[in-house]
Amino acid sequence: MTIHRGLAGVVVDTTEISTVIQETNSLTYRGYPVQDLAARRSFEEVAYLLWYGELPDAGQLRAFQARERALRPLDRTTAELLARLPETCHPMDVLRTAVSFFGAEDPTEDDGSLAANRAKSLTLLAKLPTVVASDQRRRTGLDPIPPDPDLGYAENFFHMCFGTVPDPETVRCFEISLVLYAEHSFNASTFTARVVTSTLSDLYSAVTAAIGALKGPLHGGANEAVMHMLEEIGDPRRAEEWLDRALAEKRKIMGFGHRVYKEGDSRVPLMQGALDRLVARAADPDTTRLATLHAALRHAVLQRKGIHPNLDYPAGLAYHLMGFDIPAFTPIFVMSRITGWTAHITEQLAHNALIRPLASYAGPDQRAVPVSSALA
Ligand code: ACO
Repeated sequence: MTIHRGLAGVVVDTTEISTVIQETNSLTYRGYPVQDLAARRSFEEVAYLLWYGELPDAGQLRAFQARERALRPLDRTTAELLARLPETCHPMDVLRTAVSFFGAEDPTEDDGSLAANRAKSLTLLAKLPTVVASDQRRRTGLDPIPPDPDLGYAENFFHMCFGTVPDPETVRCFEISLVLYAEHSFNASTFTARVVTSTLSDLYSAVTAAIGALKGPLHGGANEAVMHMLEEIGDPRRAEEWLDRALAEKRKIMGFGHRVYKEGDSRVPLMQGALDRLVARAADPDTTRLATLHAALRHAVLQRKGIHPNLDYPAGLAYHLMGFDIPAFTPIFVMSRITGWTAHITEQLAHNALIRPLASYAGPDQRAVPVSSALA
């Protein structure tokens, strides 16, 4: 029996949603290179593409945006529930609770039809930024700002977090990150969603579980861990010494390495370009320090270990420069990946097979159960 620990290299199903093309080290969504989508299309158009298989025409996009914008506000019960959570609660736990609560409130929770699941997916896409933004404000003692239906998805998120929308270049950099984070085939959180769906459980349960999987620092939690790591190192001149110690202690360097990409993450150049533009715009001493440290560590990791950065490495610092606090980074990943997760949930349901692998048993041989003294 061959054991594939971590399912490494195992192909478990087919998908029409996205693929990494190993030969060219590129990623496509429904056949379109993600770099071209990020450069030429909005996040809402990419969400539509992932769900419906084709890019929307102007009329379809208008209708899609109108429905998404109308669904953004939270009802009073949800807002009150979230306000009751402890202030120390990590925003990924807030999001997980919110999605679970949306499911509990939805009378169609168990309707697994395509139409019902598309409606639920759109509801989550629309409401998750409202949850993330109001939670970021709560952490700093501020009242929530209601969504603005006149603003696009990315702009509205800035508005709900800060009460203002930054310059178009910053919004564009944020939107690029959303497009790049939206989908990545059978990654750990998407696979989690597919496992839950394969039991014919409901969409909210699958998304709740996916949020739990994304939270870990080996997956989506890495974008937060990158920023903590940069703060820990502090001075660019300490990067090499810090790295040597971390490697000697067998620590994983956050934001580096990938299960699929071994020659560099195809999404990094575009996100690094967006980060470079943010750094150039800011041009203050602290941003320069962080950017120098970021580059020094990337260089040192490549030299010492031959390991390339993944998307979380430039995205983590970019989110910091956009003004988000560190605990909001992985929830922003959720706001984007909700599109990929829900596309996979509907694909799994369309050709369902229960996901149930085997294990090679390594425990004790069969043995007799001694009689309990309680029964003697
Ligand atoms: N830091 C130090 N060493 C690393 C790293 C890293 N970030 N990544 C891989 N390696 C080393 C391992 O120690 C291992 O070395 P060894 O063979 O001498 O033991 C070798 O490279 C292979 O690493 P694995 O962990 O077996 O590779 P795997 O494919 O299982 O891991 C993973 C991929 C989990 C992403 C890993 O690279 C990692 O832990 N990275 C840091 C966390 C991170 O950035 N996660 C984000 C992933 S991308 C995303 O979610 C958007």
